[in-house]
Amino acid sequence: MTRSMTRPPAGILLATLALACTLASPVAGAEGSIAELFDGRLPNNFPFLNNAGTAATFSTAGFVDLTNPFHVPQGTNGRSCESCHLPQVGWSIRPIDVELKFLLTQGNDPIFNALDANNPNPDVSSLQAKRASYSMLRKGLFRRGGAIQPTFEFEIFAFDDPLGAGASPTQVQAFRRPLATANFHIAKNIGWHDQNTNGSGDVYAGLFAQADGNITGAQQGPRATPATLDSIATYELGLAFAQQFSFSAGLLTACGAKGGPENLSAQPSAKGPFDLFDAWKNLRPGSCGTRSADRKRAQIARGQDIFNSVNANNNRSCNGCHDAVNNGSNVDGRLFDVGASQARFRKAGMPLYTMRNKTTLLTRETTDPGRALRSGRWTDMDRFKTPSLRGIVARAPYFHNGIAANLTEAVRHYETALEFKYSDQEREDLVAFLEAL
Ligand code: HEC
Ligand code: HEC
Repeated sequence: MTRSMTRPPAGILLATLALACTLASPVAGAEGSIAELFDGRLPNNFPFLNNAGTAATFSTAGFVDLTNPFHVPQGTNGRSCESCHLPQVGWSIRPIDVELKFLLTQGNDPIFNALDANNPNPDVSSLQAKRASYSMLRKGLFRRGGAIQPTFEFEIFAFDDPLGAGASPTQVQAFRRPLATANFHIAKNIGWHDQNTNGSGDVYAGLFAQADGNITGAQQGPRATPATLDSIATYELGLAFAQQFSFSAGLLTACGAKGGPENLSAQPSAKGPFDLFDAWKNLRPGSCGTRSADRKRAQIARGQDIFNSVNANNNRSCNGCHDAVNNGSNVDGRLFDVGASQARFRKAGMPLYTMRNKTTLLTRETTDPGRALRSGRWTDMDRFKTPSLRGIVARAPYFHNGIAANLTEAVRHYETALEFKYSDQEREDLVAFLEAL
């Protein structure tokens, strides 16, 4: 009865339930919380539907505790961490989730706060004006910035800020995606430019500092107690999120594969190639499940090989940077420039900065200087943390500024920006692998 492993009837039932919950999620955001839907406890491995199948969270606490202060507003504006980090979509938030919150609440959900409007003084005099004032947030992009200090190796030489986001000769404002708040047991950096860990690699301290800053900042609250911040940081550290089921390949743990959040939770931090799908290499159609499911499984294994292997065109591999085994973060916490801040990839609404090196007088354009915003170093320009790739299909769009709408676009970005070269078949295989993470 291997056939039944491909699409277990239970899986279909769960997927239906997951669909209901995914659809209910914006309502939960508007009228209550996901905690009410689940009575405070989300069972481990509870499936939530996405484009490629289902994904789930496994917590070392035995269940996902939706009563943790992470899920409860801590400030004065009604926002909680969950306002922007939804468990049902990979602990981030998609444009559709923001859009639905807007539609269901006429733009009155706490996420619609001037802090994350296109500019600091948004026109909210009518529903139409409000929609326009939150056009970037409705794309899943949050206004974030930092000051260019006099000690920095570079200065802002010129800038173009079409939405009045707050750029100035001494201030960078950019639009960023929320990172996933999971898989920190194999992480070294907290924040897109390591702003919370700042090179220390101390993830617990980074999570603690991040929660502290968010509660006084995005939640406009008084300083939280150390006990509250510890509770949030410890909770986040216990969460593993990954794809668990694929519509076309079935369970990602079938026939020796090691996918899914429970295996990820037990994965130690180590450097090396992904081996989740080694058991599916050259799988003979019909030997594990249905012939079509087995062909998909073999494709996922081919994609894993492509990810791990050096590309002949540029002598680099995806795994060269995404080198934490079966997670895809960088095991040493290194940050890289993959070209996502380049002017040629700039989308409507994004500010553009011309930075000038104060010593060499060389200039370069960027939509977001990344690590250089914290270190002040010219060589850190446009460098960002290497994020975990697990469960990534649940939380499009991709890169710090959301310039890739889906995983195919993310791979194509690497072909344009870093000279990776793939045939159509190879690209499809690679995407099939990314969708199974
Ligand atoms: C208004 C939306 C919003 C709220 C509310 C919010 N976040 Fe975030 N979060 C973001 C964005 C945007 C980023 C990426 C910012 C960056 O790194 O520049 C982020 C990044 C993070 C990161 C970094 C993850 C990583 O992989 O490096 C952590 C951890 C985090 N948030 C935790 C929290 C916690 C805990 C709370 C509640 C105390 C919270 N967030 C509330 C939007 C939000
Ligand atoms: C030079 C190091 C490097 C290489 C090579 C590399 N990546 Fe990345 N990857 C990163 C960094 C750093 C980021 C975040 C960059 C940003 O947002 O600006 C990232 C982001 C991503 C994202 C989006 C993650 C998210 O949460 O938005 C995907 C998907 C991805 N990489 C897949 C790949 C694939 C597939 C390859 C091979 C074709 C690859 N990467 C090669 C360093 C690298």
